[in-house]
Amino acid sequence: MKRVVFNQKGGVGKTSIACNLAAIEAAMGYRTLVVDLDVQGNTTQYLVGEVDAEAFPAEAQGVAGLYRQTVHNRKMRQNPDAFVWETPYENLYLLPSSPVLSAMEKELESRYKIYKLRDALAKLDDEYDRVYIDTPPSFNFYSKSALIAANAVLIPFDCDSFARQSLYTLLDNIGELQEDHNPELAVEGIVINQFSAQARLPGELVAELEQEGLPVFQAYLSSSVKMKESHRERRPLIDLAPRHKLTEQLLALHAELERSVGRAAA
Ligand SMILES: Nc1ncnc2c1ncn2[C@@H]1O[C@H](COP(=O)(O)OP(=O)(O)O)[C@@H](O)[C@H]1O
Ligand SMILES: [Mg+2]
Repeated sequence: MKRVVFNQKGGVGKTSIACNLAAIEAAMGYRTLVVDLDVQGNTTQYLVGEVDAEAFPAEAQGVAGLYRQTVHNRKMRQNPDAFVWETPYENLYLLPSSPVLSAMEKELESRYKIYKLRDALAKLDDEYDRVYIDTPPSFNFYSKSALIAANAVLIPFDCDSFARQSLYTLLDNIGELQEDHNPELAVEGIVINQFSAQARLPGELVAELEQEGLPVFQAYLSSSVKMKESHRERRPLIDLAPRHKLTEQLLALHAELERSVGRAAA
């Protein structure tokens, strides 16, 4: 199962949700791979900390190394697993981001490398039970590659009215991509993040989405400083605070995802 977490809006929780769901899967015993396609590398920092630039030259690091060998070194291509790093967590692996991803984007696009991520991840199908792909906050080459490589997309929604507006553009973009490149891609659902039950607006916005028939997960993620602490400490919530309310909400979200995997397999 390969899931991409995508919303072209920044700061909605893509990185937080991708890493925390992946860490939950890993803790449950699934071999789990996280792919960091955002040049900002927040996921990479969250899961493994600062990267030693001398040990890992930017152009050979993770996703960049993988793409680089589709353009150069074609005769000496390495298995995609060669670019995967271990994390401090059992069963949790990372294909890290690299600072050179932005600089590479134009060339990859002009050389039609949009299917290369899908091909690379397909080679790893037997290695990992679950894959989570974190994306940049734009509908660019990398996020499109992720939507082509994945079976399902999760859309974080941060409960403001601008987010609602951009949700429709997003669903439209995903629809076009499904039609052109990946008819199998399921819009698995919208993840309500930074939900506050006290304020009126979030509840109203979510109710509107549901009335419109959009697939909204029942488990809402509340806003909590624990998430920021988790990023700062570089420890996913299941490790840092397994009994915290936000962790329980993530576990409930995970249970919903498991049910949908079960339904798809049935
Ligand atoms: N449920 C939450 N409660 C509190 N802070 C959150 C929550 N989800 C995300 N954040 C914070 O919001 C910021 C943006 O989240 P992030 O996951 O990096 O979003 P994105 O990847 O979409 O840009 C981060 O500082 C993160 O710690
Ligand atoms: Mg992010």
